[in-house]
Formats: sequence, C-alpha cells, structure tokens
Amino acid sequence: MMNASQAIGPLACTKSDLPGVIRLVDGMMRQGTDQSMLTDYPLVYAEQNLQNIRIIKLHGEVVSVVPFIPHDVVIHGCRFKIGIISPTCTATAHQRKGYALRCLKSCSEGMHTAGCDIAILWTGQNNFRFYGRDGYQVVAHQGTTHRGHAGDAGRFVDHGERVEEQTQVGQAHLEQIRAMHERESCGIFRAPDNYRHLFSLPKLKTLLAFRGTTLVAYLVVGSGVNKPGLVEGGGDKASLETLVHYALSQLHKGEHLDGFVYRTAGTLGDLLQEKLPQTRRPIEEHDAIGWTLVRINNAGSFIRKIAPWLAKRNTAPRREFSIAVHETGEIISLRFMHGALDIGADKLDPHLEMSRTELTSLIFGAYPAAPTPQPEPTRGLFPFHFPVPVLDHS
Ligand SMILES: CC(C)(COP(=O)(O)OP(=O)(O)OC[C@H]1O[C@@H](n2cnc3c(N)ncnc32)[C@H](O)[C@@H]1OP(=O)(O)O)[C@@H](O)C(=O)NCCC(=O)NCCS
Repeated sequence: MMNASQAIGPLACTKSDLPGVIRLVDGMMRQGTDQSMLTDYPLVYAEQNLQNIRIIKLHGEVVSVVPFIPHDVVIHGCRFKIGIISPTCTATAHQRKGYALRCLKSCSEGMHTAGCDIAILWTGQNNFRFYGRDGYQVVAHQGTTHRGHAGDAGRFVDHGERVEEQTQVGQAHLEQIRAMHERESCGIFRAPDNYRHLFSLPKLKTLLAFRGTTLVAYLVVGSGVNKPGLVEGGGDKASLETLVHYALSQLHKGEHLDGFVYRTAGTLGDLLQEKLPQTRRPIEEHDAIGWTLVRINNAGSFIRKIAPWLAKRNTAPRREFSIAVHETGEIISLRFMHGALDIGADKLDPHLEMSRTELTSLIFGAYPAAPTPQPEPTRGLFPFHFPVPVLDHS
C-alpha cells in the first residue's frame, strides 16, 4: 500500500470499482468507437476474475489498472498455465508516478500464487521499456497475416455447402465448434463455458458450413478494432474454403479482411498461406496485435511442464547443463539421456548464468531487432512456440 498523495493500492478490483475501471480503459482505448472493454473482454471483467484486476485509487477514483486472466495452455503434449496481461491504463493526469508498474508487479505476484508460470501480453514498441521494468521481454515473430480483398473471393472455391451466419451461436453448435477447435494446435485450452462468451462477442459473426444437417466447418469474422478480419476457423478444409469464399464475396470494392496465421499454422492458416501467399505480413505489424512480450514468472516450474517437448527436441545421445536465473537465484539442471529428460536443481558442467529476460529470449526466440546466439549447450532445443488465438486475446 502507498499513501503518497492519498493514492491507495494496488488493490484487487471490487464490483463497485468496476464501472470506474471501465470508464478509465474505455476513455483511453475505445474513444471514437462504439465498443466497450466490458463487452469486448467479458471474461477479464467477470466476477470470478475481479481479484486479478489490480487498481490504484485516488480520492475514491480509479486512476490506474492492470488486469490479468489465467488460462491453461495445452500443446506439444505439455500443459501449463499462463496469465494474459489485459487492458493496462493510467489516467493521463496521473501517468509517470509509478502507478501502473505497481499494479503490474502486483499482477506478477498474483500470477505466481495462481500458478501461472508465464505471463504474456501484446503491445507496441513505445511500451517495451515500461513492461521491461518488471522483467517482460519482447520475443520472436509469432506468425503472419494474409489479406483478402473483395476481388480475391475467386481464389477460394465454393464447394457448395450451405452457409449460415450467426451472431450468437447456440449450445449444440458450440459443442461441435469446440471439437473442431481442439483438433487444431490451438494453444489456449478454452473451458467449455468460455465458448458461449467468445462466440457471442460484439462485432463478431460466425459463419457455419453444413453438409445436409451436419456442421462441417466454422469461420469467425470480426469487424471490431480488437478482433478484426478472419479471426478463426476450423473443421473440414474444403468447407472452410467455402466459408472464406463466402466472407470475401460479401466485401465491397476496396474492402479487405486479414486472416491470422500462427507459427503452428492449422487449417485456416494452411488455406490462407496457399491461396494468399503474396499478402503475407508479420503478424506484429497488424494494428490489432503488436509484439508479443513474455515474462517467465517461474522458470523451473515452466521447464518441468515442457519437459516432454524438450525430451523430443533433443537429438544428442547425451546432453546435460544447468541454468541459473540472476533475479531469483534459481538453478535448473537438465539431463537428457536415451530420449528421457531429468530436471533437477543442481549445478552441472556446463553451467549457464542468465537474466530472466535472456532466458525468455532463449526459450521463446529472440526479438529480431536484437538477435542473440543460442548458448552451445542449448543448441537445437529452442524456441518453444505456443499460439494464443486472436479470439483469446484480451
Ligand atoms: C503504459 C501506461 C499504462 C503506464 O502507466 P504509468 O502509471 O504512467 O506507468 P509508471 O508510472 O508505472 O511508469 C511509466 C514511466 O514513468 C516512470 N516513472 C515512475 N515513477 C515516476 C516518477 N515518480 N517520476 C517520473 N517518472 C516516473 C517509470 O520509470 C516509467 O518510465 P519508462 O516509461 O521509461 O519505463 C500508461 O502510459 C498508459 O495508460 N498508456 C496508454 C494506454 C496503453 O498504452 N496501455 C498499454 C497497452 S498494452
């Protein structure tokens, strides 16, 4: 708690603080739109997540806010928990007093308690230094965007499925969408109930393709500032192609839709790369995305969680090394032998010492503007990628 100028916090947001939080973030980040953070990110501001929203109040008004929301990630045979740092803001008159950094650090403590080994967020270069003060590191490119214009509909074949447009998808179809999504390398594991929120978000419609009465593919198309374009798709590839054809056919001259493709690709990603290869741009250049920043909250715990993937990545018959993390003093030892990996906490030879941010660059890939060589003992093991679909961004 601090008492300078009667500012109090960081505090966990309560129900009665929420309107002040929304006024603050909407005033800063939704000006000139008919959108509100409250409805754009219902899971962040849901009652069960209020404890993860850290605020600072001055004379009873919320002047700074940093939320996080925990998610499970399931990928490459591994499961771990991350916290997504969500809309962060300090009222203009109260910036540069250290308020947001205190809230951010309070979120890091909260994530540690909640078992989130990794924190993640997306932002522009102007904010790298601010987040860097709490150990966030910008990482490698995470994917590409591909742009389809009105005239590009013909590149995608209409295979004749019946197409329906829905703004609120019913429960039975949500179950089928969930099955299709989970067949992809989807990263964030969505609790079944979250689908109901995500598939009724404002400014999003879901196109459904049917063969007879069977739902065979889906495509989420957005027109908001935060989730625009061909946001997500899944199911049968040919039927998904029909849906992309349908979405592009609805555009007027001069309009376009951008589709998002992660490093782990997937059905929609494959389709966009095949049909619109010439429009490929780094995903970071898209206004709705930005660069990915990662903070490793708990290095040893995270490395243990990705051990099955590491064991498969290693091709050397024998390899062992240890890493010490400057800020925490934690030592993590890795001993690879006969396809297995034993992780401990003892100092081995070779022994690597690095900061939290250097370890982040090693594991998740270096920011292209600041390439760093991989230390010899780790050669060939990293980077580790997991997608966070745009639909799950907050
Ligand atoms: C980004 C943002 C949330 C930071 O809020 P803030 O409360 O001003 O943040 P802090 O005061 O904790 O830190 C900001 C800077 O002030 C500096 N600072 C902290 N206390 C200070 C003080 N007493 N005097 C002068 N500077 C100070 C910090 O060192 C930091 O410097 P840096 O930018 O060089 O790292 C705020 O600028 C904002 O709302 N921006 C618009 C919305 C936005 O972009 N959000 C992030 C989206 S991902």
